[in-house]
Amino acid sequence: MGAWTLRRRLVVVVVALVAVVAAAMGTLSTLALRSSLTTQLDEKVVAAHRRTVDGPTFGSAARGGDEVVVPPPPVGGPYRPGQEAGTVTVEQPAGTDPADLAPAQAYTITDDGSSIALDEAQIAQLLALPTGEPVTVTLGGLGSYRALSSTAPSGTTVTALPTASVTSTVTSFVAVEVVVAALALLVAAAAGLVLVRRELRPLDRVVGTANRVARLPLDRGEVVLADRVPARDTDPATEVGQVGAALNKLLGHVELALGARHESESQVRQFVADASHELRTPLASIRGYAELVRRSPDEVPVSALQAMSRVESESERMTALLEDMLLLARLDAGRPLATEPVDLTVLAIDAVTDAHAAGPDHDWRLDLPSEDALEDALVLGDDHRLRQVLANLLSNARLHTPAGTAVTVRVRRSRDQVVLQVADDGPGIPPALRESLFQRFTRGDASRNSATGSTGLGLAIVHAVVTAHAGSITVSSTGNGTTFTVTLPAAPALSRT
Ligand SMILES: Nc1ncnc2c1ncn2[C@@H]1O[C@H](COP(=O)(O)OP(=O)(O)OP(=O)(O)O)[C@@H](O)[C@H]1O
Ligand SMILES: [Mg+2]
Repeated sequence: MGAWTLRRRLVVVVVALVAVVAAAMGTLSTLALRSSLTTQLDEKVVAAHRRTVDGPTFGSAARGGDEVVVPPPPVGGPYRPGQEAGTVTVEQPAGTDPADLAPAQAYTITDDGSSIALDEAQIAQLLALPTGEPVTVTLGGLGSYRALSSTAPSGTTVTALPTASVTSTVTSFVAVEVVVAALALLVAAAAGLVLVRRELRPLDRVVGTANRVARLPLDRGEVVLADRVPARDTDPATEVGQVGAALNKLLGHVELALGARHESESQVRQFVADASHELRTPLASIRGYAELVRRSPDEVPVSALQAMSRVESESERMTALLEDMLLLARLDAGRPLATEPVDLTVLAIDAVTDAHAAGPDHDWRLDLPSEDALEDALVLGDDHRLRQVLANLLSNARLHTPAGTAVTVRVRRSRDQVVLQVADDGPGIPPALRESLFQRFTRGDASRNSATGSTGLGLAIVHAVVTAHAGSITVSSTGNGTTFTVTLPAAPALSRT
């Protein structure tokens, strides 16, 4: 019953209750009917008994010492006037042996009004009954009877009437009851189903609202939670209404909180963007002055020249860092990107050419779609940013793998997507980094950073640019190499083929 719906449970409970009530009522009314019918039958038995006791005795048996001679009973009819079919009568004059009773002293009336004699066993059974009150007795071969026995000085008289009429009335009453109860159960089940459905329909609407909200992307950007449980389902007088009202309250609360969070995030982003932007100008001046000093080597001592060259290189590094931070802040702000057709094949060729120049010790390879399928690698996007994606991935393959490593750039069309892969057979990404690889400032071996100029923003930018293009990036890395897979939607105009 644990996994049953509330609907089913309610209907089953209603039906079970109706069944219990019907069974109780049926049992009680059946018992009452039986007892009242038995009382009526007993009254008839008493009346018939009185008529027998008060009436004449047949045969020549002695009664009270006098020889009473009564005319023989009519052939094929009741021995006594007014005896109805089924009546059983036994008259044993005092002092006689039950086995000697004449047919006229122990008989029953059949349905057609004639009489038949009782056998010895039946007579013995009836004469053994207690006297005074009607009792139930089952006569061998005849069935169940209510019998009244009385003893007088003249002898013993027993009168019995069959209980068949009581039994058949009770049986048909029970049959009617069962049919009525079955109908009542059907009606209760149907009505329960309809009612429960109708009462719980508002709950479905509340669930629908919750599900729609659950499908909304709430993790970034400005979130508008316009969806609410309809007003008619928020009546606090009903339980479902309380749930609906509570959900609305929760949604309002969440919307406010998300709004506040978005607001403060925007402020931080704006600050980072502004700060990066503002720092570019003084940095450019520092670089300029350092260069100026370096170009006039005769006027400054050698140690100062060395220091100036360090200042120059560090300010270049800082400029690159600022550019990265500015780009990330802008991508975070959801600034619209350019959407021009960009051929990833061309980008791949250019990027590999540059990488070859920067890292001649690596083995650079290109794996492009066949000539006639070139147009298949077209995507809509920002040429400059997509070049940056490739440049970052290739610079990683160059900087984080030893000389001699083979790096393959692969471009493929797969249905309505263009897949770009950068695979190397280097030592792989350290396992500790893999979880947070695309997060900002995640980088390996910190000691190398100043030498390589590594900041840990490269893959964060790749991720942000790819996401801004509605694409996705995955990485698989083992001890034998690393593969970055970028998937971008193909330019729609050409995805017809
Ligand atoms: N192809 C690769 N093979 C091995 N390690 C890699 C590879 N690509 C990335 N990594 C590891 O992932 C880290 C994060 O790379 P990411 O490009 O984000 O930062 P970075 O290269 O260290 O710095 P930046 O690119 O900002 O100059 C790297 O420091 C490096 O340890
Ligand atoms: Mg990098």
